[in-house]
Amino acid sequence: MNTVIVGAQWGDEGKGKIIDILTEKADYIVRYQGGNNAGHTVVVRGEKFIFHLIPSGILYPGKICLIGNGVVVDPRAFISEVEYLRGKGVKIDGNLLVSERAHIIFPYHRVLDNLREEKKDGTSLGTTRRGIGPCYADKITRVGFRLCDLLNAEYFARRLKDVLAEKNEILSKVYNFKGFEFDEIYDTYRDYAEKMKKYVCRCSGILNKAIEKGKNILFEGAQGTLLDIDYGTYPYVTSSNPVGGGACTGTGISPTKIDKIIGVAKAYTTRVGEGPFPTAFSSEHMRIVQSKGEEFGFTTGRARRCGWFDGVLARHSVLINGLEEIAVTKLDVLDELELIKICTAYKYKGKLVEDFPADLEILSGLEPVYEEHPGWKQDISNVSKYNNLPLNARKYLKRISELLGIKVSIVSVGSNREQTIFV
Ligand code: IMP
Repeated sequence: MNTVIVGAQWGDEGKGKIIDILTEKADYIVRYQGGNNAGHTVVVRGEKFIFHLIPSGILYPGKICLIGNGVVVDPRAFISEVEYLRGKGVKIDGNLLVSERAHIIFPYHRVLDNLREEKKDGTSLGTTRRGIGPCYADKITRVGFRLCDLLNAEYFARRLKDVLAEKNEILSKVYNFKGFEFDEIYDTYRDYAEKMKKYVCRCSGILNKAIEKGKNILFEGAQGTLLDIDYGTYPYVTSSNPVGGGACTGTGISPTKIDKIIGVAKAYTTRVGEGPFPTAFSSEHMRIVQSKGEEFGFTTGRARRCGWFDGVLARHSVLINGLEEIAVTKLDVLDELELIKICTAYKYKGKLVEDFPADLEILSGLEPVYEEHPGWKQDISNVSKYNNLPLNARKYLKRISELLGIKVSIVSVGSNREQTIFV
């Protein structure tokens, strides 16, 4: 069984925990897009592990973790994450592989990301400043470096000279930034290449062979559908395809090999970074949910904006990803609320809008149409069976399922593995 896990909102849906649970049945766990802009925490027997780039499946013996060609890899971040995990006693020896075709993040990508974000002309996107966008831009412009290119010393030197000359010109002329020395980057990246050599693989070959042998593959999406470069709230998006389709291009397996795509959505909505957010809370609810839900980013520490569950946005995710089921996370965060709203449609200039719009101006002027549901006003963090959830919590989940036209298959009521309800 080959399953893709995708974020159905703006990222941070709690995919890490769902992936961790589903890892048990998987033989291979594969990242297919994004880079170290992602961040998730997995708690195993009370111990916290923070992941940015490496699949959390690495915590389990006998599983192979792959970083696909669709991921952009910052070698500095990769090496330090490997060291961090080893420091916590995790065995990394032949169970972690990186596609030779994965593109590599360079210091000029991070600097360009930062300089663009620092511009005071109102165009900042609120990126994680990890160099993700500039690295993907170079991939598409065909001036990037893949992991296999770093391993070829002569080719790397020749190409880097040209690429760096252009980058330095942009940095100095557009941004008044002094630029980078060839020797420094070359030596550092050749050193990274030496360190990463043992992880290099042909991702597509490995996965297709595994599929032939009937192995189970879990594709781990980072970020979320609304941050997708094509289907998100452009330009307030990330630079990759977190949607299910990204799993194919990002790892080299055919769409015919995917059996199932599971969406993950919070019982409410959050977003970090700039951009439209139709169902954002007023300040009072914002405070309660931000604090109870610990809505602060793992990667940047920024507070996430929070809001009501947005059924239109989630329906858009169901459609784009072909979701057949959804995991609803953090339901317990709503425990104390008297009244819970669900957005079922929008209004724009008085007219009903039932599909998620592309136009940024429309997106920014949407008025949500809400229905109201009574809260359950009780602690559900220890509930382990669906039927033991309070009636109002079950009604809330049922309504989400109805609105999306798919089954809610998993409900998460806390960060520990045990706090999971299989419906
Ligand atoms: P970038 O991916 O660093 O270029 O950032 C682009 C947008 O995606 C910004 O709004 C970020 O806050 C958002 N973003 C990137 N990674 C994540 C994530 O893992 N969770 C939530 N938002 C993210």
